[in-house]
Order: sequence, then structure tokens, then C-alpha cells
Amino acid sequence: MSVDAARLERRIAELAAIGGSGTAVSRLGLSAEEQRARDLVAGWLAARGARVRRDPAANLYARFGDDHTPCVLVGSHLDSVPEGGRFDGALGVLCAVEAVEALLDDGARFRRPVEVVGWADEEGARFGIGLYGSSAAFGRLPDRAGERRDRDGVTIADALRALGESGDPAGARRDPAEVAAYLELHIEQGPRLAERGAALGVVSEIVGILHARVTVHGRQDHAGATVMTAREDALAAAAEMVVAVEAAALGRPDAVGTVGEIAVRPGAKNVIPGECTFSLDLRARTDEVLEALARDVRASIRRIGDARAVRSSIDVLSHVAAAPLDEGLRDLFQRAAASVGVEAAVLFSGAGHDAESCQLAGVRSGMLFVRSTGGSHTPREHATVEDAVLGAQALAFALRELAATPSA
Ligand code: GLV
Ligand code: MN
Ligand code: MN
Repeated sequence: MSVDAARLERRIAELAAIGGSGTAVSRLGLSAEEQRARDLVAGWLAARGARVRRDPAANLYARFGDDHTPCVLVGSHLDSVPEGGRFDGALGVLCAVEAVEALLDDGARFRRPVEVVGWADEEGARFGIGLYGSSAAFGRLPDRAGERRDRDGVTIADALRALGESGDPAGARRDPAEVAAYLELHIEQGPRLAERGAALGVVSEIVGILHARVTVHGRQDHAGATVMTAREDALAAAAEMVVAVEAAALGRPDAVGTVGEIAVRPGAKNVIPGECTFSLDLRARTDEVLEALARDVRASIRRIGDARAVRSSIDVLSHVAAAPLDEGLRDLFQRAAASVGVEAAVLFSGAGHDAESCQLAGVRSGMLFVRSTGGSHTPREHATVEDAVLGAQALAFALRELAATPSA
């Protein structure tokens, strides 16, 4: 089964150009750019005979086969973080398209429906809800998700209406029983495959992730007239809390903790900060470790706040449990990798993926990693076309086994 390497390379560039500048891509969830990406992918698949639709949460589905039989769902997400790279999410959708096209070119017929999916807003970079599209599809959105606002005050409901939808993402809900299996190819986003010299990896499990917003309330005052012993400086307290997050994660196996956003009010150099808000991203390979990490972080925030006489509150934005992926699909991907001459490494994923929402909703899910370099969520992220082709071929192998009748 041959994947068209030149076409895949061309499409990587074409998709990256949407919201792109150099190797940087900014294609936020539910934006006009994300919609252009859906249109581009939809066009390729419609040309091959797929029935294409967008659901009320703005997920793209392109279906081959009937509407009644449970399908094999294959794809990834079409949004990016601000100033992200060309491959995170995008490569999974592109390789799904290539895998389907390779099967069709090979004369295979689908004995069970195959649906290519381009999930909306997986990153949660705009509205704060990671895995938004797949969560909407499988009834896992947080309460009142439609009311979540971006930095400009635009709600998810507003953004959906601007796309022509009704504004209620819960309308995207589908029955997990409609999906026989979910397959997702993704770049690894870390160095482990490169270190092991393996082009492909099979994902054993995806970490649990807790996202929260911490608000520290101090007392706004004059930076010159207030003596150092009489301050309630919200930012100084937050700074100590940020370091405590790092320390709590450092002490635990397979756990990470990140504060990636911080905002200070009123934000002037001669004003003691009255309020400081920062994000929390806590992850761990098991739910037990994540719980212990979250407990430590809460206790540190409380202790530091008490010692500095500032009040603080923690709003949990989302909490996704750790997800061991389906063992049968792991084996299938291992064989798929072997079919293209790769002994795949088995890895857990520290990044969140839509496969997590699917697996947690009861859809058997599997993930294939493609070696990448340069990190991720940065314009430096990179995967070679050669590795991407191996990934697409392995994905086609898995799809054929799950859904296609070999050509005569
Ligand atoms: C998604 O990329 C995440 O893991 O934050
Ligand atoms: Mn991703
Ligand atoms: Mn990402």
C-alpha cells in the first residue's frame, strides 16, 4: 500500500499555511483559521466520495460507508496553540486522509464505515477547555462550557454562532456505540523515539490532566509609600506559589506541573499588585499521583497565602483522568509498524490527546506516535516526511485490518 509522499509533503505545507507564518502556526480553536483548515481537509475527502459534515461543536467528520454501522474513526485535531508548529494535530489528520486515500487507490472497499475526524479546539488555548471537540462529541464537556470566554470576552457559544452553528456545543453529542474504534496518529512531541532510533511508537496510556485557574487577592497600594512590612503583594505571593508548583511536581515520578499564564492587576510599575491570576497545568501518569500532586499544590497555595496574608481561590477548569489505551489496538499498531519495517517503541503520552476523551467514553482507542524533534507547541517542532509516510502506511495497515476488504 503506497502513500503518496510528495502529496503528503505538499499538504503539510498547505495546511500549515492556514494561520501560518514561517514554520509557526497560530490556528486557535473555533477561529476563522480553524474553519479554513476544515474546509481544506473536507475538500480533499469530498473529492474521494466522503460525506462531509460539521457538528454543532465544529468538529469535522468525513464518512465513507453507511450511516448505521459503527464506524472506525480516524484523525486528530485541526487547531494549534498560538505560535505552535506545523505538525501537532495536523499530521494526524493529514495521515488519516493519506491512509484512506492509499486504501482507495489500492482498490480496497470498506466493509465497515470509516470516518475521518478533524477535532475542533483540542488545545483549549483559547477558551481553556482542552479536548473540547472530542469532549463535546462524547458528553464530557464541563458544565456551561458554552459560556467560557476567550481573552476578548467572546464565548464559545458566540464563536460557534459566528461559524453558523446554533451555539450549543452539547448538540454534538453522539453515542459512543456508533464508533467501533478510534485511531489517532500524532507526533511524539518529545525526544524518546529519537533517542531510541525508532520512527514510530505505540502509546500505552495518556496522562491524567488537571487544569485550573488560581486567583490571588492582595491589596493594591502605592509602591513608594508602603513599607515592605505592610504589604499584601498578590504577585510576590503568586511567585512563591509558582515555585511551589514546580517543586511539588519535581518530587514525583512521571508527573509535571506548569504555570504558563499569569496576569497582574492593575499592572503598573509603581503599584503593588492587588490581584494576580495564574494557570495551573498538572499531569501524571496515574490518577493516584495526580491526586497527590494536586493535594500538595493546594496545600502550598494555602500555606503561602496564609503566611503572606493574601486570599486565594482555585477554580478547576477541567480534569481528565489518566487513560490506558486499548490493548488490542496497541497490538494492532505494533503489527502495523512491523509491516513497514519498524519495531515500534511503547511509550506513555505526557501530552493530552482526543484519544483520551474517546477511550474514557468507552470507545476503544489506539494511538501511533511518529518521531519528532525540536519539542512541540513551538515553531521548531518537526517530523520528517519519511517518518510521516511510515506512519501513514502503518495507519493504513491498521485501518485495512479493522475496516476494509483487501482488493481482489
Ligand atoms: C495538548 O497538546 C496538551 O497536552 O496540552
Ligand atoms: Mn495535539
Ligand atoms: Mn498540542
